[in-house]
Amino acid sequence: MNGIVSEVQRRGRVTCAEYMELALYHPELGYYTRFRSGCGPAGGGGDFLTAPTASPVLARTLAGLLTRLAELLGEPLCLAELGAGEGLLLGTLLEALGEARERVLRRVVAVERAEWARQRLFERCHSVETAQDLGDVPGPGGPAVVFASELYDALPVHRVTLLRKGDLLVLGELYVEVRGGALHWVEGPLSDPAIGAYLETHGVSLWEGQQAEVRLLTRPLHARHLAWLGLQGLLLVLDYGHPANRLYDPRSRRLGTLVGYRGHRVVYDVLREPGECDITAHVNFDDLVAVATEKGWESEPPQPLGLFLAQTGAFEHLPPAVALGEPLAPEDWAELAAAKRVLSPSGMGADLKVLAQGRGRVWGAYRALATPPLADA
Ligand SMILES: C[S@@+](CC[C@H](N)C(=O)[O-])C[C@H]1O[C@@H](n2cnc3c(N)ncnc32)[C@H](O)[C@@H]1O
Repeated sequence: MNGIVSEVQRRGRVTCAEYMELALYHPELGYYTRFRSGCGPAGGGGDFLTAPTASPVLARTLAGLLTRLAELLGEPLCLAELGAGEGLLLGTLLEALGEARERVLRRVVAVERAEWARQRLFERCHSVETAQDLGDVPGPGGPAVVFASELYDALPVHRVTLLRKGDLLVLGELYVEVRGGALHWVEGPLSDPAIGAYLETHGVSLWEGQQAEVRLLTRPLHARHLAWLGLQGLLLVLDYGHPANRLYDPRSRRLGTLVGYRGHRVVYDVLREPGECDITAHVNFDDLVAVATEKGWESEPPQPLGLFLAQTGAFEHLPPAVALGEPLAPEDWAELAAAKRVLSPSGMGADLKVLAQGRGRVWGAYRALATPPLADA
């Protein structure tokens, strides 16, 4: 029997959040955390593409943005990447900065839960502080930028549904249980009253039979990230998600957004291959905005990745032949095709969103650089 299935059987019944925690982050069996010697989960040889693994344009554009921010502020920045994986983004970003690194970045911090990935990141990127948790490293001690690509959508979620009980509609939870040696969903009462309160806070009323996810971990984790930044900083969150009214819209999201990925294919039954496939559910961007507002931070509305890139200088990082209108060499064509993935107003360029939040001088500098286009978008 698969080790995760045995663990669920041992526990009797687990919430979807507990199942995701096991399937993704169990030290020996978890999809992200178990040791890997070959390809990592994200990238062409893995199970899914993320923006940093799809094209170097994102990392190069961020390098350009950081350079302009440091120039405007008149001092180098601390950069922290959260959920940094194997360091593909950081590696390309630092390479793009080259000798300018000292002028632009005072410190580089990479936070990643998986030890094998931290080790690879450390080997790939020079002079980077690595940590399992942002709380394990000292605060930035000056202007800082935090970047997170597909961190929040990889956090465990509870799965809920609106059930009919006689004449009543009752909010129930979907649990995971072993039956006949395999994992199955079973309905039960809410495991935590905070789940009902969460939906109420967001003004969400599910329809009968609708399924949805509730991620209780987002707010406390995001609050810790903001606290680490202190009184000034810029946070760029890149993720799949929507505001609550779209995320829980019964007409378009009747079965929620929980899916897996394996071999670049969607796995609709996330119980089928525990520990062997990625599991993800969209982010409720309202959570991130609410925490930021409570703590005195400002937020811009989430915008499509392609638009963010276009407005922060991505076209400067396309092969020069593109701007010159010259014939493309085969390697330029491949680079352009990869860039199209993250820039195009369909696919990743539209589905992935960038949420910018900030406070103090760094936020002022970002707004000055990004304004008017980002503010007006
Ligand atoms: C979907 S992958 C994204 C990797 C990379 N950012 C990218 O975009 O290619 C999510 C990563 O976040 C890491 N992760 C999940 N929860 C974390 C946490 N609380 N702190 C740090 N890393 C975390 C996982 O181990 C995994 O490497």
